[in-house]
Formats: sequence, structure tokens, C-alpha cells
Amino acid sequence: MCGIVGFTGHQQAAPILLEGLSKLEYRGYDSAGLAVRDGENLAEVVKSTGKLRNLAEKTNDGLAIHGTCGIGHTRWATHGEPSQTNAHPHVSGNCTRSGSGPVESGVVGVHNGIIENYQELKDKLLRHGYTFYSQTDTEVLIKLVDYYYKKYQAGPIDAINKTLVRVRGSYALEVMFTDYPGEIFVARKDSPMIIGVAGGETYVASDVPAILKYTRNVYYIGNLQLARLRPGQAIFYDLNGDEIEIEPTEITFSAEAAEKGGYEYFMMKEIHEQPKAVLDTLNSVLKEDRIDLSEVGLTDEEIQNISQIYIVACGSAWHVGMAAQYIFEDLAELPVRVELASEFRYRRMPLDSNALVVVISQSGETADSLAALREAKTKGLKTMGIVNVVGSSIAREADRVFYTLAGPEIAVATTKAYSAQLIACDILAVQFGKVRGKLTEEQYGELIAKLRLLPEKMSRLLEEKERIQWFAAKFASAKDVFFVGRGIDYAIGLEGSLKMKEISYIHSEAYAAGELKHGTISLIEDGTLVIGLLTQQDLYEKTISNMVECKSRGAYLMGLTTYGNYGVEDTADFTVYIPKTDEHFAASLAVIPLQLLGYYLSVARGLDVDKPRNLAKSVTVE
Ligand code: AGP
Repeated sequence: MCGIVGFTGHQQAAPILLEGLSKLEYRGYDSAGLAVRDGENLAEVVKSTGKLRNLAEKTNDGLAIHGTCGIGHTRWATHGEPSQTNAHPHVSGNCTRSGSGPVESGVVGVHNGIIENYQELKDKLLRHGYTFYSQTDTEVLIKLVDYYYKKYQAGPIDAINKTLVRVRGSYALEVMFTDYPGEIFVARKDSPMIIGVAGGETYVASDVPAILKYTRNVYYIGNLQLARLRPGQAIFYDLNGDEIEIEPTEITFSAEAAEKGGYEYFMMKEIHEQPKAVLDTLNSVLKEDRIDLSEVGLTDEEIQNISQIYIVACGSAWHVGMAAQYIFEDLAELPVRVELASEFRYRRMPLDSNALVVVISQSGETADSLAALREAKTKGLKTMGIVNVVGSSIAREADRVFYTLAGPEIAVATTKAYSAQLIACDILAVQFGKVRGKLTEEQYGELIAKLRLLPEKMSRLLEEKERIQWFAAKFASAKDVFFVGRGIDYAIGLEGSLKMKEISYIHSEAYAAGELKHGTISLIEDGTLVIGLLTQQDLYEKTISNMVECKSRGAYLMGLTTYGNYGVEDTADFTVYIPKTDEHFAASLAVIPLQLLGYYLSVARGLDVDKPRNLAKSVTVE
């Protein structure tokens, strides 16, 4: 998704904007641009396609454009192909072909989000004499602000308010007005935006890493709220144009946490941070070997009255739900449905009024997950977010939130947040089982003890990564890979497959092992890699049989199972072992070799592990 930054203060803006955009590269983009204003002079716009370094080179690392007030943007194309003309910032006047140069008087701005009714608004503006140089919805948005600013002559906040009333969609919007030198006006709906004020300077960004260097007290501007930013000052408004107060939130993680720390890629660093992410998340609710959900805001009475759980999420977070359903059903004897957020929000599904809707999201900004949460609340259901980013939209709008303490996750491919979400679900399932009388005191204690041992077992697995690296080199040119498993092993396969696809671009699919022979086995050819997940003892023999069916059709078999199941080597050509643990928690261990496999395949194929093509860290558009 796009990244936005802004600065107004006493320092030169361009270098600060470029550095901020570099901290947002993980969000995914295909072009970038800046608009910087020097005092009363008109703003200077510079744009470029491709990587951010192209913009840095064009501006001599920002030294070539002067001014202490500016906005910047990295664009992930939605309306209009990646091009210099379509890159932001966009202006209310015309734009030179190169997309760079001084701005005509008026409005210049950047935007992260989607304006759904941009065509009707564009038609309106065309009727009022506006012309358009780009194919973007953002240019329409900026020109609409200009239209209302000129029509009503009531100032920027009024013009933006009138614009937002007409607009359908999502936005994190930043604009500068020629008549207001040194000032930036912002507005937000559904797309992330934070504001920092420190040392007489004011900063705007899509996410914390871009301004953590300057301040750790940030304002999470709310939905349908605006702000007027001056050097060292932020004034907030609601849609009526009335001033409102917002309390700052302190960011608790360090700037180093948002750096690579000596690893080649953020993903490898974050893979290694998993034991700590799991331990910190565990310790956040463990008090003297008992689980305490008071911080989460879930009482024993509420737990007893819940009749059904709906887990709603996207991508890897959905895979967490796919594993959690088995764990809740086993330990708490509670029916669970796992729904893709993009499906849940449009289904006309009869929902159990005593259900708990659990929305799992690392970023807390995923558009489909946020919309599903709102849908659940509209229907009067109790909701809970399992979220990694403090103060994010899902965290703030859910009735209660279980924060995963994974720290900032920069790599697009999630690892430590996935593991922290998984342990959060394990914790909830154990507590639900105890409170609902399905677990004895002894079972409860044993399960908590097993959870406590997971971080150390995860660390042990990380010590064997070279073996995975060797195996990845053998299959770096693979075309199709299949993951097969049953129950929790199927859910583990889903995540292993996505890791492989999204960062090595090798096509793979995860299948419930028993389903393969109903069609897909026709795809198995000589040398096709089939990875069998075998952590669930009662399903072990069944899955082995499915693997043998593949082997008899030429497949190369990798087995992933628990130490002690050495008989697997009679079937598998290559085996990876994980330490023994309670089978309900096996996914926390089994996922690590699969993350490493995806990582090493990507490295072997010379790809950008942290910023895979076409992907964004947080999908804040539908
Ligand atoms: C996982 O590696 C992907 N980056 C993606 O599937 C991600 O899990 C999904 O977009 C959900 O994101 P969220 O957890 O921030 O809601």
C-alpha cells in the first residue's frame, strides 16, 4: 500500500521526507514523489518511477529542493499504471509532462486509499472547467478540494470537510495550500496516519517507523478527523470543523527494533525474533502460572456465555484461524467458524447472537478485516481484535483487543506476528477450556507449562537452519510444490505454502491430505516436491498413505514431523524434525522450517525477500 510522509518545521524538509519514505518502503510501491515549499514560494514537485533511490538521485538526496514544509508519497498503483504522471503529489492546476517542477498556485497533495466515486466527481469537475493530466483518483480528490476552496472561500478545513462529505472511499490525505505557507492540512478515513510533534517540528506518516527517530509520542488521528499542522503544532478538527482534542500515544518499541540489526533481510531478523515475540505475548497474560485476560477485557462470565466463535482474517492471519479452530474445538469444545474477511463482510450468513467475532490482524488496518469487524458490530455481536499495532483501527474499534507483542514487523511476509497470533489463540483456547469446565486443573497447568516451553524449542529449531538452506538450493527451480496435511497440519501447510509463494514466486498449494486424490493428484509428476506435514499423531498414518500415493506418481517427498517418528524416513526422501510438544501447539514449531524454506528459496532465486513484487505489508484497500 502507499506510504505518506509530511514535515513542517525549521529544518530542510526534503531529506527528512526521503528518509521517512525509506522507512515505509516495506509497504510496497512502484513510484514516489515529493512536494516541498520554501517560505512563500510555490511548492516544487519532483516525482520518479521505480525505487525510492531514483527520487533521491533526482533530488541529490533532497539537497536540491529547498524549503521547510513538504509532503512525500510512495505509490502502490490502484487507478492508473505506475508512471511519473500518475505518481503523487498531485496538483489542482496542470502538471508538466515530467511531473516535476514548480506548482501553479492552488493545492498540492498526496493520498493513500481509494476514492470509489472518483469518476462521478471527475465528471462534476470537468463540467466546472477542470482538466486532468493523470488517470488517478487522487488528482480528482485534490482538484475537488481546490474547487470547494475557491467556491466557498472559507479556508482549507472547510474545503476539505466539504470534499470529504462528497467522497466515498478511504483516504489518508495531506494537502498544502498556496495561501498557507508552512502549513499542512491532513484528513483520514480508514487508511493509516499518525502525527508527531517534537522540538518545534511536526511530522506526518503512514506508520511509526517513519517518525520514530524524532518522537515516540504520536497522535493517532481518528476516522473522519482532520488536522492543521504548523511547525511544532497540530490542531485537530471533526467533520463539522469544530476543534477536538486527541491524546498522544507513547510508542514503546525502540527505533532499533525497526532496523535490520545486522541481518541481510528484515524477514530473517523477524524469524529469529519469534521466540521473544511468543514469550512476550505469553507473559503479557500469564500471572503466577494462570492466564489473566483482564487486560484483554474478557470476563469468565462472558467466556461461559459464548456459544460460537467466528474467526475472521486475511492471509496468514486467516491461517492462524484455520489452526486455532481445531485447538478451540478440542480444548474448549466450542464450535468455531473461520471466515476470510473479504467473504464474511458480504455474506448474508445467519450469525449466532451469542457469538464472539475474533478479528486477527497484524497491522490492524487491513481493509477487509476492518470492514468485517464493523459488519459484526453492526449486527450486535461481541468482538475482539488480536492485533500487533497499538492504536490501529481494528485495535481501537473492536470491543476488546488482545495485543500481540511481536514489535514492528517490517518484512511483507509475516513471521513473528503470525507466531504471536498463534500463541494468543492457544492462550485463549486454554483459558476458554478451563473457564468452561472442559479442562481439569491438572490439564490446565500442563498446557500452560507446555506453552512456556515453546520459545526455547523455537530457538532450538533456528539453530538447524543450514539444513533447510541446503534443501532450498535443491529446489530453487521448482515449478509446483504441494503441501499436504490433516487437521492442524493442513493449517500449517497453508502458511508454509503462502510463505513460499509470496517471496520465492514458486507456485504452491496446500491441500487437506485426504483431498489430493479428488483431482489435484493429477498434477503430480516426476520430481514434484510434496511436503507432508505429520505433527498430529492420530492422523500420521493417513497422511503417510497420501504421501505414498504421490510418491508412486513420481513425487519427491519432504516430511515434517516430531522427533521420534523416524519411521517417516521409510517414505520421505528428506525429513525435518521438530521438538515434541502438545500437538495442539505444534504449528508454532512446524512453521519455522517452512518460513526458512520460503526465505532460502527467495534468496536462492535472487529476489527481494522483504519487498516481494506486487505485495504490500498492509492491504488497506479492498
Ligand atoms: C502474510 O505473509 C502476508 N503478508 C499477508 O497474507 C497478511 O497476512 C495479510 O495481508 C493480513 O495482514 P494483517 O495481518 O495485517 O491483517
